[in-house]
Amino acid sequence: MIDSLINEMTLEEKVGQLTLFTSDIDITGPSMREGYKEDIQAGRVGAIFNAYGAAFTRQLQQLAVEETRLGIPLLLGYDVIHGFKTIFPIPLAEAASWDLAAMEKSARIAATEASAEGLHWTYAPMIDVARDPRWGRIAEGAGEDTYLGTQVALARIKGFQGDDLSAVNTILACAKHYAAYGASQAGRDYNTVDISELELRDTYLPPFKAAVNASVATFMTSFNEIFGVPASGSEFLLSDILRDEWNFEGFVVSDYTSINEMVAHGVVADLKDAGQMAITAGVDMDMQGAVYYEYLPDLVKEGKVDVATVNQSVRRILEAKYRLGLFDNPYRYIDQQREQNEVMTNEHLEAARDIARKSIVLLKNENDILPLKNEGQTIALIGPLADDKKELIGSWSAAGDWEKSVSLLEGLQQSGRNQHEILYAKGTNINDDSTQYFQEAIKTAERADVVILALGEAALMSGEAASRSTIDLPGNQLDLAKEIHKLGKPTIVVLMNGRPLTISWLDENVDSILETWFLGHQAGPAIADVIFGDYNPSGKLPVTFPRNVGQIPLYYNQKMTGRPLAENKYTSKYLDVPNTPLYPFGYGLSYTDFTYSDLRLSSKVLLQQDSIKLSIKLQNSGNLAGHEVVQLYIRDLVGNVTRPVKELKAFKKIYLEAGQTQEVTFYIKQEDLAFYQRDLSYDAEAGQFKVFIGGNSIDLLEENFALNY
Ligand code: NOJ
Repeated sequence: MIDSLINEMTLEEKVGQLTLFTSDIDITGPSMREGYKEDIQAGRVGAIFNAYGAAFTRQLQQLAVEETRLGIPLLLGYDVIHGFKTIFPIPLAEAASWDLAAMEKSARIAATEASAEGLHWTYAPMIDVARDPRWGRIAEGAGEDTYLGTQVALARIKGFQGDDLSAVNTILACAKHYAAYGASQAGRDYNTVDISELELRDTYLPPFKAAVNASVATFMTSFNEIFGVPASGSEFLLSDILRDEWNFEGFVVSDYTSINEMVAHGVVADLKDAGQMAITAGVDMDMQGAVYYEYLPDLVKEGKVDVATVNQSVRRILEAKYRLGLFDNPYRYIDQQREQNEVMTNEHLEAARDIARKSIVLLKNENDILPLKNEGQTIALIGPLADDKKELIGSWSAAGDWEKSVSLLEGLQQSGRNQHEILYAKGTNINDDSTQYFQEAIKTAERADVVILALGEAALMSGEAASRSTIDLPGNQLDLAKEIHKLGKPTIVVLMNGRPLTISWLDENVDSILETWFLGHQAGPAIADVIFGDYNPSGKLPVTFPRNVGQIPLYYNQKMTGRPLAENKYTSKYLDVPNTPLYPFGYGLSYTDFTYSDLRLSSKVLLQQDSIKLSIKLQNSGNLAGHEVVQLYIRDLVGNVTRPVKELKAFKKIYLEAGQTQEVTFYIKQEDLAFYQRDLSYDAEAGQFKVFIGGNSIDLLEENFALNY
């Protein structure tokens, strides 16, 4: 059916299917085009993004189906990154939950809501490994680790796509940004990437490869160059690896005008050459650039692009529309009834609260100041994010309405703990140098038994085009914290931010720190649940917190140097800051304690086809029930290329009642030990290994084993 349709199409109609334009109801990039509706009517655009709502999408779909010669339905896409209307925690926060089922569920709900409002396609998940917290887009991914990032990618793809793309509540996912966008130099967005092929394959590509194996429907290219070629023109990435090595069968969309931007990169002289380079490399659909629209017909007529190449891209896109069921009924995702009944339901808000509290990481808790006791205390809630709703939903909050957020102040007030008196003062703005509100905040704090400081970034200080050269608390928030600290009251800091921040002073001086990222609509109740002990925090950092910006890039799975840190002068270190992070990857406290003991291996030798069973006793040695994320790391001691000091290979999130002990087991197989070798083949190498197990990437028990052939 698709082939006969392609046979009927004119060249212009074919190019139309390869063209994606934005509507004018949301703006997510630098350029707008007038006349996209006329283009739909003329059959010159086959996909639209930034349009949603049953009424509006029906209007657009009607133009395509009823007014064009062939009536091919439109594909409607949108950045449904962490929720559509019900806004969930930002992806970096969700990753901190290490709860794959909860992440799958949040994507599932996002797909349900988006599809009820006419959408077929989300530009998520972003699966770029990101090791530079200056880069604002670290907020959109799962952090610094390849293994965790891969597991999160799989959970989210499953959530969006389900098992059946033709179901009306599933949508196409998009693995982005392909590839290595997270390695932008100096953390500056859209900047150059120049890394080795080994690092590309070992660190950045595995989530993408796994996404292909999980049948992700689409890929998006990245803005950066790599190996001197912009990703949107990279035959190496798009043809050699994606199609030939991995056998990807879906379609590839460019990022927003990234084909055009190849001219600015200086790899082609003009837009026409850019179009030729992109389609030849393997970009099927042009997002917003109108390069294919303007130049592809001529490129084909002049023999510069084979029509078979165009046909193949058209086929991939029509197949996606077919799999969605759009040829059966182009309006099947546009459903006013579902829009009313299935969007922002109580159930969805409950799920948002659930994953929000799971995403909170307790960074410090001196003298067990948290959770707050039940009896009536006077609590001073102070800070620019204390009664904020707007920032809570974070960047890329799709069609989410920030006015529906529950602020921290409201969360505390609504918690049912009426025995407490809650005082509030703003103290300062997020990014301000005026101290005009300090006095009022100090006076408020003076009246309180305990102070909660809600500090952090504005939502749009992370996300796209939001890199920062310092990652301190913005404005004079730290000065405010210092003034309040002088009062000597027990102080809890609630951080809201889209990236790791440098917070050494807070770490040294306040009693307790909760990292809450941007938790979405239900942030207030979720944080209140943790503050009052209705939920025992269980989040673990998916990304390292450096002590200062000069340590960046700082990540746990670094390589050894020839001169590891020692007393000797001539070793790898800084004169002015330790090598260690402030908080390591995988770190997060609980209101209870977990004790690890009895690490046992079923054998000290792993034979090729075999596995080693590893077990450990995990005891909840404190007084409260809670979850622990048990993390397993491996180090390959000698490789034909050097290996990281340790790499996460498995984890389990375990729930234990107070006092309970459980044996936790893992199996190590040869495939867990594989890596890209000197000749770029992928295999494990016989030799000695260390296995580590524990509750973060630093405090670990260890054992040795060997892989024998
Ligand atoms: C540019 C961003 O890089 C990409 O992630 C997003 O999906 C598109 N704009 C569309 O908004």
